[in-house]
This record gives sequence, structure tokens and C-alpha cells, in this order.
Amino acid sequence: MAPNRLSEALAAHRAAGKPLLDLTVSNPTECGFEYDSSTILNALSNPAVLSYEPNPRGLESARRAVAGYYADRKEDVSTEDIFLTTSTSEAYSYIFRTLCDPGDEVLIPSPSYPLFDFLADIQDVSLVRYALLYDHGWQIDFHALERAITPRTRGVIVVHPNNPTGHFTKPAEKAKLNAVCAEREMAIIADEVFLDFVLEENRPASFAANLGAPTFTLSGLSKISGLPQMKAAWLIAGGPREWKREALARLELIADAYLSVNAPVQLAIPRFLEQRHVFQKQAISRVRRNLAELDRQLAAQKVSSRLTVEGGWCVVLRVPSMRSDEDLAVALLTATQGVCVHPGHFYEFSADDYLVVSLITPERVFAEGVRRLISVI
Ligand SMILES: Cc1ncc(COP(=O)(O)O)c(C=O)c1O
Repeated sequence: MAPNRLSEALAAHRAAGKPLLDLTVSNPTECGFEYDSSTILNALSNPAVLSYEPNPRGLESARRAVAGYYADRKEDVSTEDIFLTTSTSEAYSYIFRTLCDPGDEVLIPSPSYPLFDFLADIQDVSLVRYALLYDHGWQIDFHALERAITPRTRGVIVVHPNNPTGHFTKPAEKAKLNAVCAEREMAIIADEVFLDFVLEENRPASFAANLGAPTFTLSGLSKISGLPQMKAAWLIAGGPREWKREALARLELIADAYLSVNAPVQLAIPRFLEQRHVFQKQAISRVRRNLAELDRQLAAQKVSSRLTVEGGWCVVLRVPSMRSDEDLAVALLTATQGVCVHPGHFYEFSADDYLVVSLITPERVFAEGVRRLISVI
């Protein structure tokens, strides 16, 4: 419950009305992207909202649109295997409750996304970390992963691509994960909210049609269409037939208890999904331009560098560790610079020499923020 030093410093900075160069922005609706407002608003005024058709999986028309999203990627997903949720966070709760008794364990990558701790705590699930290794690119430390497995381990989370490292799970890693999980009847839980934000030539495959092990795949409109305010996401159950039948039955019970996604949003999902094309084009070109600007500025000095990025919305900077990453982040904010960045330890980087920066930051703010950051370091 206690606020960290950076959030206290940020609150004080804002309260004093001081200018801020926020390099941590992750809310796409505040980043100056252009949305097709009339299509979005019209999609919410479908006359069909006047009737209630409860369905634990969510409306068929919305699930058909989600299956269509995967069909566009040449991945075959049945509408019967899809459950709509209000967020991927809610989807995690459904999955934890489907797989785990209180105290059971789920493996998560480290470094990764900080919200997992809260989501697991709320569901009485214990998280156990497995390391990702960096050597010109990221990979799973399978030795660490297998050592972390206990008789209580029920699943392994992979974030594809991971936040904030921006790396995808490679086909050979997927094959190995399938072997490890199939052998022990553990589930792969694949978080693919950033799947479409690819910076390289080859488009990585989804886990949605994975048959090699019990698999849950999560995604949603927060990132895919840049519409976090609509609270529309989904999970897909896949894998061996008997396992899937049991998982779907459990999920149906949980989802039927909540029926949480409202009708206007479900009816609008097909239109909201279409919005992804225009949004993704803008977001990916912003990410590319910010990365190019970062590289231009980094090339003019020798002390700091960045790690490889394959996709997603973030970049990890490696900076000299003269002090803790938190001290550095607080100093960047307060000591005349007014630059907000995340210290690496927020994402479980173990050393003090990492900072995390958002690549969807509006370009002028990004360029000036990076200039000030580099001048201080
Ligand atoms: C890896 C990852 N998964 C899930 C989410 C949350 O998505 P949602 O808004 O659907 O809960 C985020 C948000 O930043 C994320 O980074």
C-alpha cells in the first residue's frame, strides 16, 4: 500500500505545477494519436444494446470478430474456445482460479510486468520467477525455469512480446515450453497484448492455436486498438482435447458467475477491432521514430546504451550505476530536469543500471526528455 519514492516525488512535482517530460506514458489515449471518433462513438449506439443476452463466453458476434482477428493472422481459433473479459487483468484472474488452489504456484518471467504480483496476490496464487537472460537479445533461462518447478506449479506465464524487454518467444523456446508443460500437465499462459507491435520483418506466431501443451492465450483492445477505456479483452483455451474440455467447463462456471462485459462494448467489438489498423500504423511508426532518435542521441556519447527491442512499446536503457536506479529516477525528476522514467527494479531488473522508457511518448517530449536524461548521466 505504501507509495514508492518516485510516485511521491511525481505527485509533489505535479502538485507544484512544474513542467514534466513524462517518458513513462502508456495510456495511448493521451499520446496524441488520431482516432476515428465518429466510428467509435457510433459503434456504441447499436439498438441491440436494449436487449440482454447473457452468455458466459460473451456475445457470439464479438467472439466471431476475435476469431477473425486470428484468422487474419492465419491462426485457426474456434469461437467456442474464446471468453470475453473486461481486461486481460480480469482474464488472468479467471485463469488463476481455473488452474490453482490457494497457495499453488505460477511461474513468471523476470524481468517483466509489475502488475502480476497484485493479480496473483488477490487470487492467493504464489508467483515464482524464472530468469530471462540477455546476450544481444533475450532468451528464457530454461535451466532456471525447470529448477523453479515444484509439485504445486500449475502454469508458466510468457509475455509475447514481453513488457518491458520487447522480445518475442522464439519458435525453439515455444517447442521447449510445450515439452516442459505437456510432460507435467502445466499450462502455458501467453500474454499477447503487444503481439501486433513488431519492429522486425517476420511476424511472430500467436500461441492461440498451440496444440503442444495446455495453453491460455490472452489479449485485448487496450493495446491492439489503443482503446484501454473500452475494457474489452479475451482469453482463449487451447491444447490437448481432454484438458481443454475440462478447462472450458471451469471457465464457463467462473464467467457465468460474473457475466462482466457490458452489451454496448460487446456489440462494438467488431468495429473496435477494425480500428486496430489505423491505430497500429501510427503507434508502430511512433515507436520506430523514437527509437531512431534515441539511437541518434546515444551515438553521440559512450556511457549509456540501449538493449535490443523486437516489439512492444518500451525500451530498456543501460546507464552507469553510480547510485541506485530509484535515486537516479528521482534525481531526473527533481533536479531541474523534470524528466520521468521508470527505474529498472520496477520490472525486477536486479542491477541498478537499467531505466525503462516508453516509446509511444509524443516525439518532441521524447527527444527533449532523452536529451536531458543523457546530459545528467
Ligand atoms: C504485458 C501486459 N499485459 C496486460 C496488460 C493489461 O492489459 P489490460 O488493459 O487488458 O488489462 C498490460 C498493460 O500494460 C501489459 O503490459
